[in-house]
Amino acid sequence: MTETLTIHTLPTTDSRLATQDFDHLEFGKVFSDHMFVVDYRDGEWQDAQILPYGDLSVSPANSALHYGQAIFEGMKAYHQADGGVALFRPLDNWARLNASAERMCMPTIPEELFMQGLRELIKLDAGWVPTFAGSSLYIRPFMFATDGFIGVRPSEAYRFVIFTCPVGLYYNKPLRVRFEQKYVRSAEGGAGYAKNAGNYGAAMYPTKLAQQEGYNQLIWTDASEHRYVEESGTMNAIFVVDGRVITPALSTSILDGITRRSVLELAHDMGLTVEERKVSSREIIEALKAGKLEEAFGVGTAATIAPIAVIGYEGQDYEVPATRPDGFSKRVSAALDAIRSGEGADVHNWMVAV
Ligand code: COI
Repeated sequence: MTETLTIHTLPTTDSRLATQDFDHLEFGKVFSDHMFVVDYRDGEWQDAQILPYGDLSVSPANSALHYGQAIFEGMKAYHQADGGVALFRPLDNWARLNASAERMCMPTIPEELFMQGLRELIKLDAGWVPTFAGSSLYIRPFMFATDGFIGVRPSEAYRFVIFTCPVGLYYNKPLRVRFEQKYVRSAEGGAGYAKNAGNYGAAMYPTKLAQQEGYNQLIWTDASEHRYVEESGTMNAIFVVDGRVITPALSTSILDGITRRSVLELAHDMGLTVEERKVSSREIIEALKAGKLEEAFGVGTAATIAPIAVIGYEGQDYEVPATRPDGFSKRVSAALDAIRSGEGADVHNWMVAV
């Protein structure tokens, strides 16, 4: 595919925009009018199109359905104070999508194809970007195998799609979580750092068990000893202990979260000490008992910053102190909101106008 690619656009003749209730958006249930679709065949990306959002037709033998050759990203666009729309760190998502693609033996996507598809789609559906505080347009790029073949080998053909959803808050109250002591999300050397579909599907059963016990999510621990924190549900985990911002160091089993990266960069800007290292569940509970755990929260694209209220550990529930108005998570959340809305200085150049 050449640098100046042509995207054939078939605009909908039946927009659903006027019938949406933007005051009661449930995450992931409302889809904007259009989607971007491009196919990979004969070693190249071809037939880039923007179509009305709708069902896709696939071979029942494709190896996404059978062997999990499927990856995705989560990213957001924001209404700007000047009336425009801007994307938050889109090239970070593009790079991570390609890292996931390599891990899953899938083709990478050229930057210009990703960015042009994204821009043209969002320009066409700009009316779907919500404007109320805390809202955004959640963007779901994904790629899956399309060969009709059930032999176990990487597919030769793929489809890359982007659709979008107007969203408000992901979680509406602080979370109850517990350290997982039996199941694992991922092991060192596995595919935990990639955003492949199987990581999420395999997490559902242990999460369901925790939910039956009254928790919202798990804090995943390492595969060999169940001793060190990995992630919090579908988010990265961050703790504030004695004024220090502490988070598990990245590894092959932990997703390199773009919100995690942004929160740590803002913590540095605020002059705080940031520690990326092994963090044991015992250390967190000891800090909590000693009154030194100031905050615990998950960070991710969908949820942004999700405070943790209760942590279950070895059969007992421990209450995390309520977030103070001047606490780090509140301050960093306000700083992120200001950058994303275009009201605050974007000193890191994270925002990209559509
Ligand atoms: C995200 O935060 O974008 C995620 O990928 C989490 C979830 C909605 C799958």
